[in-house]
Amino acid sequence: MNLIEDGFTQLCNVDELKNLSGKRFIVDDTEVALFKIDEKIYALNNICPHQHTALIYNGFIEDGCVTCPAHGWKFNLETGRKPSGSKGLNIYGTKLVEGVVYVKVIPRELHW
Ligand code: FES
Repeated sequence: MNLIEDGFTQLCNVDELKNLSGKRFIVDDTEVALFKIDEKIYALNNICPHQHTALIYNGFIEDGCVTCPAHGWKFNLETGRKPSGSKGLNIYGTKLVEGVVYVKVIPRELHW
């Protein structure tokens, strides 16, 4: 893992992803939830902003959203936002090259 190319980190082969189900990765200390829905790949932060559980990868997928399994908060897979439009999860760029999935994680800036 972790072959870096243009700021992208190699995660897995696309064959390892099941349709409509997530997988958890840690990239440079950032929790990432990776999903495959038909031919599209989505990467979001895996930490739910509600109670900071690392369970987004295990969420239920429906209507373009992932639902946190802990208490049901929903996040749009494309934008990371809640259905109300308010901020939810950070999203990350992905690319698929010769069957390998890469993600570009931009760590959140820390303000001390
Ligand atoms: Fe995700 Fe409560 S921790 S909805």
